Amino acid sequence: MGVKGRAAFAIIFIIVFICSLWLHNNVRRSGIRLLNKDGGLENWDYCLKVYIQNQQSPSLYGNNVSEEDMAPLGLCPGQKFQVGVLLMHLQAAPVSTDDVLLEPYLASWDELIKFMDSLGPLVGFISQEIEAKTSIIRELAQKEAELKGQAQDKEATAEEQVSGTSISKGEPTHPSAGVVGRAYTSVHSMIKEELAQGLVDFTQPQASGCRTLLRLHRALLWLQLFLSSLAEEQSEAGRARSPSELCRDAYRVTLAQHHTWWVRKAAEIAFVAMPDRAFFYRLVCVDTQKEAAAILNRVVRAIQKVYNRTQIALEEHGMLELP
Ligand SMILES: *[C@@H]1O[C@H](CO)[C@@H](O)[C@H](O)[C@H]1NC(C)=O
Repeated sequence: MGVKGRAAFAIIFIIVFICSLWLHNNVRRSGIRLLNKDGGLENWDYCLKVYIQNQQSPSLYGNNVSEEDMAPLGLCPGQKFQVGVLLMHLQAAPVSTDDVLLEPYLASWDELIKFMDSLGPLVGFISQEIEAKTSIIRELAQKEAELKGQAQDKEATAEEQVSGTSISKGEPTHPSAGVVGRAYTSVHSMIKEELAQGLVDFTQPQASGCRTLLRLHRALLWLQLFLSSLAEEQSEAGRARSPSELCRDAYRVTLAQHHTWWVRKAAEIAFVAMPDRAFFYRLVCVDTQKEAAAILNRVVRAIQKVYNRTQIALEEHGMLELP
């Protein structure tokens, strides 16, 4: 089956999937509601506390941006996705003046994948794709670390034979030994190393860390745009636009540009079944649009910082259109 065939198959599958999910979800949602009634009291207390704190210090979201931006967000109990954890990883990624550390970058994606998965099983068709991409970079880093390890073992053995000294196994012999996958430490170090080794193919699709990063990078712009539009309290003709519409519009101007017609259609079907605004408030443990906006804007600023640096790094090396 060609790409189109597979995408067509995916669409048919998704349609069947939606039909069965409507049924299943209705049952499950009422189940969750019951659960919350029983065990949600503590959570409610917590949210209330956070809410009161926020109400008592309105200046927190005022002009003092930098300090407020760095203050950690509390845990929001009862769910997988934690906006506080996402923010922590995003803020840990930028390093020196222009680089991005890959470990927190990928950890941010782990959290964003949980975010996407909480939007319904249909968005999972995109989040699975993204998860596969994060695995590629992690595997490359792992492989590189193993290769480095082998090279060092060989060096160590050679030294042993030459000097006659015996080095106990597993003990680091170089200052660099034990540093896992140095080439895949940051965006810049990865680009540099992969270019040096001729791993980046500018003419045809070939798996590389840089190509994979570009795919993640494009998806990050979509989420950045979606979250920032979700934070805005704009309404058209007196009606606040639904997350579903916002997500679709953000998708159209970003990721869709890089997707085939079939994938675009599948994605737009997936966005139709997206939860309402109240769901997103619960997801970040707030009650109002204003509070949600404060949190979402912090996340958006953190994403922007990471996105802008990655964009510049990829652009510098002519990697924005890697096939
Ligand atoms: C990122 O770049 C955009 C567009 O160039 C700019 O508007 C925004 O302020 C930048 N954000 C950060 C956090 O650097």
